[in-house]
Amino acid sequence: MPRILTGITPSGTLHIGNYFGAMRPAIELQAGGDAYYFIADYHSMTVITDPVERRAFTLGIALDWLACGLDPAKAVFWRQSDVHEVCELTWLLGSLTPMGLLERAHSYKDKTAKGVSPNFGLFAYPVLMAADILLFDTDVVPVGRDQKQHLEMTRDIAIKFNQAYGETLVVPEERIAGAVAGILGLDGQKMSKSYGNTIEIFGDEKTLRKKIMGIVMDSRTPQEPKPDADQNLALQLLGLFAPKDVAADFEHRLRAGGLGYGDLKKALFEHYWSFFAPYRARRAELAANPDYVEQVLRDGALRARAVTEKTMARARKACGLR
Ligand code: ADP
Ligand code: TRP
Repeated sequence: MPRILTGITPSGTLHIGNYFGAMRPAIELQAGGDAYYFIADYHSMTVITDPVERRAFTLGIALDWLACGLDPAKAVFWRQSDVHEVCELTWLLGSLTPMGLLERAHSYKDKTAKGVSPNFGLFAYPVLMAADILLFDTDVVPVGRDQKQHLEMTRDIAIKFNQAYGETLVVPEERIAGAVAGILGLDGQKMSKSYGNTIEIFGDEKTLRKKIMGIVMDSRTPQEPKPDADQNLALQLLGLFAPKDVAADFEHRLRAGGLGYGDLKKALFEHYWSFFAPYRARRAELAANPDYVEQVLRDGALRARAVTEKTMARARKACGLR
């Protein structure tokens, strides 16, 4: 059975890009595999420096995962910082990782290009991510397309370790979620917490309705046929939430002319809102029971450490630390 692993950084509120790009594929895989999902709180250190905020986002993401269908009986679910081995492996891997490899990382280049003053953590981020993955002998990593380069780096680093110290680490494959690999945000760019263009999975109804109704469209009249209907952002998003025949009908009406953008966005909001309705109810139940959530994460950490202690022992031995 393939071992599947993925993590999400608690650096904000999760959005539908996270849901379709990472969470849903992971949840679909939990029944058929050996699934390991975690909250990447060490990764949040390079983004957030407020402890209150970090705790709140961490709890929020735990609630989101559980509400959306992560089943702790099927998947191991934990908080990264409860498994210290990940820091130890980061050091072993970092000592073999060329500076040039890290200098080429998009995440690092993008952030420094935006004027973020880089620190060691930001630079070393792909090594920590490699440790996350390699500690668990991971076979498959379901992530969105933006993480592809980090996966390639993980593979490079694992190969380097094995070349230096003998076959020790499993070289993972990547799995980019099929047709929904890059969900677009409200402004037509990739949806991302850092671009302020997100539609949250959970949130206040009025705010979210306003966001969706605020999607900017062109100035063509409703009557005008739209031969480029498939390029329409609201229609593309509707396709994520509405049944296929409903989405096809909207596309047809947009193409033919006669459908106003306001009506299209209204339909998008309604389908989006009802899509997450059952998860919303479940999340409210879980939020009322934070002790249960904490217990799930602690149990998960114990199960995770049963794996990581073995990998770490193997790695220490291979490189002569023992
Ligand atoms: P963000 O860009 O909002 O900070 P993260 O980098 O924390 O999101 O991503 C967490 C997971 O969600 C990753 O697996 C990532 O690939 C996936 N993901 C994020 N944004 C999108 C998107 N717009 N489309 C598809 N998947 C996404
Ligand atoms: N870097 C990922 C992101 O920003 C989160 C992450 C950390 C991750 N470690 C991981 C994803 C290991 C998959 C596997 O989205």
